[in-house]
Amino acid sequence: MSRLPDDRAFLEDVLAGFAKPQKVLPAKYFYDAAGSDLFEEITRLPEYYPTRTELGILDARGPEIAAALPPRATLVEFGSGSTVKVRRLLRHLPDLRAYVPVDVSESFLLSEAAVLRADFPKLRVEPVAADFTQPFALPAGVGTEGVAGFFPGSTIGNFEPPEASRLLAQFGRVLGNGATLIVGVDLVKDRTVLEAAYDDAAGVTARFNLNLLARINRELGGDLDLASFRHRALFNGHASRIEMHLVSTRAQTVGVAGRCFAFTEGETIHTENSYKYTVESFRALAAAAGWVPGAVWTDPERLFAVHALRRG
Ligand code: TRP
Repeated sequence: MSRLPDDRAFLEDVLAGFAKPQKVLPAKYFYDAAGSDLFEEITRLPEYYPTRTELGILDARGPEIAAALPPRATLVEFGSGSTVKVRRLLRHLPDLRAYVPVDVSESFLLSEAAVLRADFPKLRVEPVAADFTQPFALPAGVGTEGVAGFFPGSTIGNFEPPEASRLLAQFGRVLGNGATLIVGVDLVKDRTVLEAAYDDAAGVTARFNLNLLARINRELGGDLDLASFRHRALFNGHASRIEMHLVSTRAQTVGVAGRCFAFTEGETIHTENSYKYTVESFRALAAAAGWVPGAVWTDPERLFAVHALRRG
């Protein structure tokens, strides 16, 4: 494990992001060890409805979702993480041919695969360490018939719509013709509900966002004063997305690796987007990416949607 290339990419991304008229930081840098723990905490917050609502849909509609998959399917999960969500589906899929978790973090992927094998001894688990935004091959021997994909968590909403469309098309190429894809997508709703989900009363999401600046200080020798930035989440209705920013509360100059960057009072660093779709707008996005929209399952409050898509 060499740390240098990673640090170098992080530094280059920070310097390039801070040089833009609207300063930006790539969201992928949220997830160091501290950030991953904070994210787990976010998923349990009272205001953060997506995780528990999606799990509720998978539980309540599991038999129907299972019936939308081909018999003896190979199930490929893009960005499998802790496998909490797929476990809800596995209960309803006793005849699964193989489960293929795909994740960039190889050590986490392999340890989670081991736990899953222990809990589901009859299940064939074939992990693939890969960045799911790039093309990759399925393991030899899992078959090319009856392949299904699983992409929960409204992670699709963290991509710009044109990128989201490209990603769905890419999943289609990975899974092959005749594949089914199950995607979890957060729904457009009242802005107060949306904004509270990304700006909780306990300040966990604020700590998660500010952790980006802590990382710059720790890993890149930055001198940012965390007390001079605050978290802001706002729903941009025109773009149909929650935006997360870090707002400079005063005029200041910050240093990163010997370079200086000026902030005016109120100037922001844009750190994340979470696009919200209606059932119809997501079906249109999927159709543009070559998928045939199928069944849609939602919770009674219509907070969140799970879509089945098919590739002809
Ligand atoms: N995809 C989820 C969402 O957009 C989880 C997520 C990604 C998230 N980045 C985030 C949640 C930043 C809170 C803050 O809701």
